[in-house]
Amino acid sequence: MCSTPTASAISIQNSGLWNMVAGFDHKGLIEAAQAQYARFPGYHSFFGRMSDQTVMLSEKLVEVSPYDRGRVFYTNSGSEANDTMVKILWFLHGSEGNPKKRKILTRWNAYHGVTAVSASMTGKPYNEVFGLPLEGFIHLTCPHYWRYGEAGETEAQFVQRLARELDETIAREGADTIAGFFAEPVMGAGGVITPAKGYFQAIAPILKKHGIPLVADEVICGFGRTGNTWGSQTYDFVPDAIISSKNLTAGYFPMGAVILGPELADRVQDAVEKIEEFPTASPPRAIRSAAPSR
Ligand SMILES: Cc1ncc(COP(=O)(O)O)c(C=O)c1O
Repeated sequence: MCSTPTASAISIQNSGLWNMVAGFDHKGLIEAAQAQYARFPGYHSFFGRMSDQTVMLSEKLVEVSPYDRGRVFYTNSGSEANDTMVKILWFLHGSEGNPKKRKILTRWNAYHGVTAVSASMTGKPYNEVFGLPLEGFIHLTCPHYWRYGEAGETEAQFVQRLARELDETIAREGADTIAGFFAEPVMGAGGVITPAKGYFQAIAPILKKHGIPLVADEVICGFGRTGNTWGSQTYDFVPDAIISSKNLTAGYFPMGAVILGPELADRVQDAVEKIEEFPTASPPRAIRSAAPSR
C-alpha cells in the first residue's frame, strides 16, 4: 500500500491517519456494516425522529464516556464535530444572554481540523495562506516542557507559567467574551506532544472559576489510544464535552460525535426548548415565524 519505507513506517505508527485501528480487513466490522446497509442504510435525525441504531450508539457512547448522563450530536468528521461544538457554545451563550461570549482558546501546535473554524482553532502557521485564523481564535503556549520550557525552569514552574498565561489572557480578554477552551489530551498532528505533568490540573480550575467550558478533542486519543478509553482519563481531568471521530468507526465510515457532559447537556436542552430545536440544519418554528419573508 505504501511505496517507500518511510511512508510505510509513518503509516504503521499512525495507523492510517490515526484511524485504521482495526486494520483494513476486520471481518466483524465489514459484516456488521453490510448487515446494517441491508437492514436500513440511513436515516436523518430531524424533528425528533431517528433510527434505533442511532439511539443505541448514543446510549453506548454516554455509557463509555466519563459522564453518568449526557447528549450526543453526530457529524461526518472530526473537523465538523469541532465546528459543531463551537456552534453549540455560541448558541448556548447567546441563549443565556451572553452574546459576546464567542472567543475560542486553543494552543499553538494544536490540530483540530480542516474546516474554517477547526482550522482557526488549529495552531499551525500553514493556515495563514487561507487568511486564518478567523478573528476571536486565541492560541496559548503549547504545553511541551522539553521544547518550550525556559532555561532553568522546572516542569512545575513551566506549568505555573502556562496557568498564569491563561489567567492573564482571561483577564485581558474578559471571561464574558470567551466561549470555550479546546484541547487535545495528547497533541497528535502537532508532533505527538504529551502535556507537561500537572498541566490539565492547573488549567481546569481556572477555566471552571471563569465559567469557560473545557472541551477535550479526543479525535485521536479516544478509544484506547493512550491506554484508557479517553486521553482525558489518562491525564486525569474531566472535560465538559468530548469531541470524537476516527477510532469511533476505525476509519470504516466517516463519522464524528460531540458528547456533552451532564451540565452542558442540561443547559443546551434549556436553550433548545426556548426555540423548539437546535437549529443547525433547519429553522425551528419559533425562528421560521419570526423571520421576515423575502
Ligand atoms: C485531534 C484532531 N481533531 C480533529 C481532527 C479532524 O478530524 P477529521 O480529519 O475527521 O476532520 C483531527 C484529524 O486528524 C485530529 O487529529
